[in-house]
Amino acid sequence: MSVERFARKELLNIKGRAASRVTLRRIPGLINLGAGDPDFNHPAFIADAVHKAMMEGHTHYVFGGDPDFKRAIADYYRKYGVEVDGEKQVVLTSGGSQAIFQAFAAILNPGDELIVLNPAYQGYNGPTTYFGAKMVRANMTKDENGLFRPDIGNIEAAVTDRTKALIICNPDNPAGCVYTRKELEAIAELAVEKDFIVLADEIYTEFIWGGRKHETIIDMPGMLERTMVLMSFSKTFAWTGCRAGYIIAGPELAALVGRVPMGICSVPVAFQRAGIEALKRGWDFVKEMRSHYEKRIEYCVKRMNEIPGVRCPRPEGTFYIFPDISELGVPSAKFVEGFFKEEKVRIVPGTQYGSNGEGHIRLALVRPLKDLEEVMNRFERYAKKFK
Ligand SMILES: Cc1ncc(COP(=O)(O)O)c(C=O)c1O
Repeated sequence: MSVERFARKELLNIKGRAASRVTLRRIPGLINLGAGDPDFNHPAFIADAVHKAMMEGHTHYVFGGDPDFKRAIADYYRKYGVEVDGEKQVVLTSGGSQAIFQAFAAILNPGDELIVLNPAYQGYNGPTTYFGAKMVRANMTKDENGLFRPDIGNIEAAVTDRTKALIICNPDNPAGCVYTRKELEAIAELAVEKDFIVLADEIYTEFIWGGRKHETIIDMPGMLERTMVLMSFSKTFAWTGCRAGYIIAGPELAALVGRVPMGICSVPVAFQRAGIEALKRGWDFVKEMRSHYEKRIEYCVKRMNEIPGVRCPRPEGTFYIFPDISELGVPSAKFVEGFFKEEKVRIVPGTQYGSNGEGHIRLALVRPLKDLEEVMNRFERYAKKFK
């Protein structure tokens, strides 16, 4: 029997999971740089905090989420110069994925248009389709260092009278750029002028390199009531399996998101208590992860650029690299498939992030340096076959 006849029709337009987002069975010798799942384990005090909270009876309904946790989040976000009221402006979600889904659920009607950059994180695609909305792509363009950046002209050209929102990722996965204040101001001006919402996926804010600073669009003129910042603990505290995230928005928009009937609050209460501890005491751990990521980026960018036909810009943020392999003259999906088969390394073709990602591949630097040295040796051997 086919269950398709029972399905919500939009669901039938959503493909299954991309290969890079399937947990692989153990393959001897495989090095997986596909999904962005940090290889670090969070410090023991976080697990202890979960246990302690459960033993103290934090195991009951907390409608709307733990106010202490929401306050701690608001205090944290203040470091970007923004005043946030934890009670009125923070909505808790089960990680960044649910923040995306819930934000979309709050604003997208069938036929609405959502502007998505090209390339962009692929996790925006499914929810857009699910809500019957249309994704309108705005190509990023490369700067003098070969890094994809938002192109305000292309974004403006994508606006129509059906545009409901634009989603940006800052720092950007997969492109690696960190938005400048000027870029954000231009987007904010356009959003106010054309009257659309900006969804700002900021889950990589703790991973910014080269002295760059995170700027947020929510505090720009006219943006408080038209911005939703989508956040997650997944990368910040290497917490991908624990599922905690949140949305920060102006009070009216946050109340609207809070009306989405997603249940009580999707972060288990004991994990909310542990989240408070993480925000208090987790920063040495974050600093340590940062120092590893920086070394990995430095090493891999250098190795990539030594390979004929490969150009790899240094990312300004995130722990991904997105090298340009177009000179090798092979479609990126084919390159990635062959690399997996021949060299047992899982990476992601740029086309997974949109058509503009063709000629690129993404590597998540979520393995220790010694594994990355091995990956680069295998990569060099494999890439040389095409040149
Ligand atoms: C840009 C971006 N947004 C959202 C997510 C989803 O985050 P989470 O794992 O917390 O659901 C990811 C995960 O890789 C991501 O890269």
